[in-house]
Amino acid sequence: MDSARITALGCYAPPHVLTNQELERMVDTSDEWILSRTGIRERRIAAPEMATSDMAIEAAQVALANRGIEASELDAILVCTVTPDMMFPSTACLVQDRLGAPRAWGFDLVAACSGFVYGLTTAAHLVGGGTHKRVLVIGSDTMSRIIDYTDRGTCVLFGDGAGAMLVEPADGSGNGFIDFLNEVDGSGGPSLMMPAGGSRRPASAETVAQRLHFVHQEGQQVFKYAVRKMYECCRDLLARHGLTGKDVAALIPHQANRRIITAAAERLGIDCDRVIVNIDRYGNTTAATIPLATRDAIEQGKLKKGDLVVFAAVGAGFTVGVNLWRWDY
Ligand code: ACO
Repeated sequence: MDSARITALGCYAPPHVLTNQELERMVDTSDEWILSRTGIRERRIAAPEMATSDMAIEAAQVALANRGIEASELDAILVCTVTPDMMFPSTACLVQDRLGAPRAWGFDLVAACSGFVYGLTTAAHLVGGGTHKRVLVIGSDTMSRIIDYTDRGTCVLFGDGAGAMLVEPADGSGNGFIDFLNEVDGSGGPSLMMPAGGSRRPASAETVAQRLHFVHQEGQQVFKYAVRKMYECCRDLLARHGLTGKDVAALIPHQANRRIITAAAERLGIDCDRVIVNIDRYGNTTAATIPLATRDAIEQGKLKKGDLVVFAAVGAGFTVGVNLWRWDY
């Protein structure tokens, strides 16, 4: 298989900011608790008329403009999300139409917080296999639509946002996709889920009254799994290539909780200045955290052409996604 490289990035974060102080007025919480337990200061909330496809298109247009290509040149669009505009058609179909990408096929990829890493893995193989030249991977989630703002255990954690990366064939420089280590442990499903709205428990007056269309999370179960798996999977993927955390220029982790990130980075031996953290400003935007953090890494000069970068995420499912790339722009 030939390699693939990431050639462009685009992000979108809604302008409206929801601060910890505002949440203090909504539920029994405090800025001190949220900041010390999660690292979050504020998060972005999409305007009422904005859906996941709208944010996806905003991010996609920035990525395409950065690369200087038209949407009509795309071969495939993958939208990683757990908050699609509707059950069907897929958000990828809505994006394909409104972006103006008649040659592209595509689909939604449901892997929660690991979605973007699974999307990158898939795109790398579509391109590396030689059948696709330009695959756009979009992570977009409007978490505020499935969050119960009376549940202090979850409502402080999440925000809205989108990010997109363009994957194209490698140019022979040695940069690009190197390897992946993705896992699923479906036994973790009950720890983090939206219980109703699917074929098992269709929407009804009862499911609405029972607040079953919101995120339900056993925080500590998810926390323990995430700390362990984020470390183990990064370690094992690096070891496959004779590498350790010391060889990594940037660790770009999913932003669920600053304590999860710090614990994994410390065990991997990656200094904090090489670990990208922006959870303080965005909270957990599910499939969008990795592109949003990548944008920050580039802007801060922490991710440069030729750098070894690890993207790592753990999320609902349970799902785990770790990718190793040599950055290429
Ligand atoms: N404000 C104040 N107190 C709170 C809040 C809050 N917002 N939330 C919970 N508490 C209380 C609890 O009620 C509990 O009180 P009690 O001791 O009187 O019962 C106490 O704080 C401790 O609660 P814990 O759940 O043990 O708190 P913990 O330190 O575990 O932090 C948290 C909770 C932040 C949710 C943490 O468990 C976590 O980050 N879990 C992982 C989240 C994650 O990674 N999700 C995966 C990605 S999401 C996806 O895939 C869609």
